[in-house]
Amino acid sequence: MKNINRRDWLKTSVLGLGSMSLLSGNLLAKSGSAANATATWSRESMLWELNPIYNEVKMKARLLANENPFGPSTKVQKAIAESINTGNRYGHADAAYLISIIAEKEGVKPENIMLGPGSTDLLEKTAIVLCKDGGNVVSADPSYMSLVNTAQAVGGSWKAVPLKADYSHDLPGMTSAIDSDTKLVYVCNPNNPMGAITEAGSLKEFCKTASKKTPIFVDEAYLEFMDKPEDNTMADLVSEGYDVMIARTFSKVHGMAGLRIGYLVATEERINSITKMVRGTMGLCVTSLKGAIASLQDEQFIVNCRKWNKESREFTSDKIQAMGFKEIPSHTSFMIFPIQEDGRAFSKKMMDQGVGIRAYSIADSPWCRVSMGTMDEMKLFVDALKVATT
Ligand SMILES: Cc1ncc(COP(=O)(O)O)c(C=O)c1O
Repeated sequence: MKNINRRDWLKTSVLGLGSMSLLSGNLLAKSGSAANATATWSRESMLWELNPIYNEVKMKARLLANENPFGPSTKVQKAIAESINTGNRYGHADAAYLISIIAEKEGVKPENIMLGPGSTDLLEKTAIVLCKDGGNVVSADPSYMSLVNTAQAVGGSWKAVPLKADYSHDLPGMTSAIDSDTKLVYVCNPNNPMGAITEAGSLKEFCKTASKKTPIFVDEAYLEFMDKPEDNTMADLVSEGYDVMIARTFSKVHGMAGLRIGYLVATEERINSITKMVRGTMGLCVTSLKGAIASLQDEQFIVNCRKWNKESREFTSDKIQAMGFKEIPSHTSFMIFPIQEDGRAFSKKMMDQGVGIRAYSIADSPWCRVSMGTMDEMKLFVDALKVATT
């Protein structure tokens, strides 16, 4: 399969060709220790984001981008509405305040926090700063590819390490893949698109040891959907002085994907090395800052979202299993399962019924990834799945 870098991907998307190698997978493929691995799997769904035709489709259930159907909370909406008339001023003071409450929550100093308009911004900026002079990034395959794509686009290479049979990260394999040219290890936990987790104790040991050789970037976008997020985060390693970077986002459990805000927790030296080249807060608007502040203060909303997400997950799991499908146990706000039919044809059949999902080709087999929506949306999904597969 052809490897498509980020620039080519965007070009392909705009042309509306409908398929790409944004995510690359190696579950059944050869070892990833050769530098600059190529994509062995692809996202097969139509590129609705950039294709005007698909943006016009009236979706009854939008289950393709791991958005939170319940957000933003009413308190966030109120805070944003009240902040609009301050939009003539830069949001530096709000940014400083948000940084201070995040630092307190994470048990670090404000100097350990960098904000960005979504965690994508922080993934990409980290990749640019660390890989601008080449070198390689070690990461699992399949996994989320934003950081790797940007690293490759600026001249770095990718060392792909296949996930284990239980879809967790192969930490010994990743340790072996690190070499003198490695600029960064990227770990996504829980992982997208597989939804599986890597056990916190072994990941922590890996971070402690491997961060002596190279920075470790842990993407915790879906952390809050786990049963015990506080036992699974790697953020405490930062205050212990390890060269570990943690990315978090307000896009998922906080339900603020369109408001664009996320943050990085890292050592002061690491934050400085990034912010001396690219700034964190200048891409943020006061509405998002005020919204994020309100959301951090609305703990009940997060508890509710976690509960509702779990209910949707259990309902969907029961229903699809009754139809003969079997998902990978999910710790996130989405689940993925193998299907029989070509992913593009399948996603079109679903979209024709107003249900947006993501189809993938992994190790040459088609898979459906469905984001958790409201219970009504999940019922629509199940009904559409029955029609599409019979
Ligand atoms: C694992 C992971 N990391 C990061 C992101 C980026 O999220 P955002 O830029 O909205 O914070 C996503 C979005 O789906 C994701 O799945």
